[in-house]
Amino acid sequence: GSNHRMAGKRVVVTAGGTREPLDPVRYLTNHSSGKMGYAIAQAAQRAGADVTLIAANTVLPAPKGVKVVHIQTARELLKNVQAAFEAADVLIMAAAVADYRPAEVADQKIKKTAQNETMTLKLVRNPDILKTVGASKRPGQLVIGFAAETTDLITNAEKKVKSKHLDLIVANDVSNQKIGFNSDNNQVTFLFADGSQEKTPLESKPKVAEALIAIISQKL
Ligand code: C5P
Repeated sequence: GSNHRMAGKRVVVTAGGTREPLDPVRYLTNHSSGKMGYAIAQAAQRAGADVTLIAANTVLPAPKGVKVVHIQTARELLKNVQAAFEAADVLIMAAAVADYRPAEVADQKIKKTAQNETMTLKLVRNPDILKTVGASKRPGQLVIGFAAETTDLITNAEKKVKSKHLDLIVANDVSNQKIGFNSDNNQVTFLFADGSQEKTPLESKPKVAEALIAIISQKL
């Protein structure tokens, strides 16, 4: 429901999947739709927060009352998150960030040739946005990450809470097609920095978003 639990708080949410160009017509990406991040941005706005949504390649309508910034690549996402995080109380990284990008981006479309029956792509690591931003976190700022896993969900999520300096991670089993990528529903485990856990029922992404915002507003 509508309330003012987050009145006066500045919340930055990222959503969608980054695109890493290969040439003017091609890119590498992932299956993220942006639905979870958009639902979180809307829930935070309804709770009275001043919300900036940094969206990577989404086609969803802007949530009402939310400022949306559109970006494509992981490096553009990093720049925008760093700028927005300065004055933010909360950062929620729901975007699926490409871990690697093509080492070179061709100026012109890459052509197939008689010599190129096979082709090898060289990739380089993208910056880890949460790690970078989490390292400069001020007291009182909350940083929340997502862990989309296909195996060892909780173990992997616990590792990420520590390595990325998070206050909370939202762990999500993407091997289950009923939830996660492009689905309208989700079922997650909230994992806190102190090791405590809370599992949500299978419900709509807006419901999961409300539960997350309720937890965050208690911690603010
Ligand atoms: O390490 P992994 O990609 O599984 O971690 C997922 C979390 O880290 C998500 O919250 C995602 O938005 C964030 N992430 C990031 N920068 C990256 C990769 C992931 O901030 N380069």
